Amino acid sequence: MAPTKRTLAQTLMESPLLASIYESRLWRRSPVLSALLGISFDAEQRLILDAANLQGDERVLDLACGTGIYTRPLADRLPRGHVVGLDLSPPMLRYAADAARADGLDNLAWTRASALALPFPNTTFTVVLCSAALHLMPDTGRALAESHRVLRPGGSIVLAVFRMQSGWLARATARARRGVGTRAFSTESLEQALTAAGFSAMQSLHARGGWLIVRATKPSKSSE
Ligand SMILES: C[S@@+](CC[C@H](N)C(=O)[O-])C[C@H]1O[C@@H](n2cnc3c(N)ncnc32)[C@H](O)[C@@H]1O
Repeated sequence: MAPTKRTLAQTLMESPLLASIYESRLWRRSPVLSALLGISFDAEQRLILDAANLQGDERVLDLACGTGIYTRPLADRLPRGHVVGLDLSPPMLRYAADAARADGLDNLAWTRASALALPFPNTTFTVVLCSAALHLMPDTGRALAESHRVLRPGGSIVLAVFRMQSGWLARATARARRGVGTRAFSTESLEQALTAAGFSAMQSLHARGGWLIVRATKPSKSSE
């Protein structure tokens, strides 16, 4: 198989420098990013953690966890549960493991793997979170199908992705996105992709500015 060309976004995510500033106000907590996404990181975090609706004993997959910016608060909310942070980038995973150790968390594990070929048996997890990453992946359908496979029937997926906007801003951002190797979703296109992967009952939790946050369910009658 011919090797696929790496995008600028993929190269950036492998950078130790980005891992070191990722959680700061220079990147994920940047006021400029918050303005573009139409939501502050703190508000996004509250929304996403509430959407996960944890009782404390779940098995959670933080898909494309990066530095573990969500993995650690998830672990905090799982006194009898467990969270796995999975990512492709070694510098991100190194930062994630160091930060979790510094916080004294021991109910989490780290895996270097692709979201397109998850190294877990069917129905391993109760909740899958994939924040700020689906729009970077070359095959969205495959990533959602893999998430569906590893979720238990009745389990939930929570996604945060770039949102397709309209007008001149949309055209400018679409060009910039293609240049770096990312894409954006409308509420409808994300719902279609989730439905095609076997999910149902998609709820839109935030659909403003450049950010879309949704939750969907793997139906209880699902065969896997
Ligand atoms: C912008 S960061 C998101 C980190 C975190 N989830 C957040 O909400 O901030 C995107 C992450 O997705 C990871 N990633 C991109 N494509 C991936 C794939 N196919 N499989 C696993 N991880 C991937 C990158 O390595 C990077 O750490």
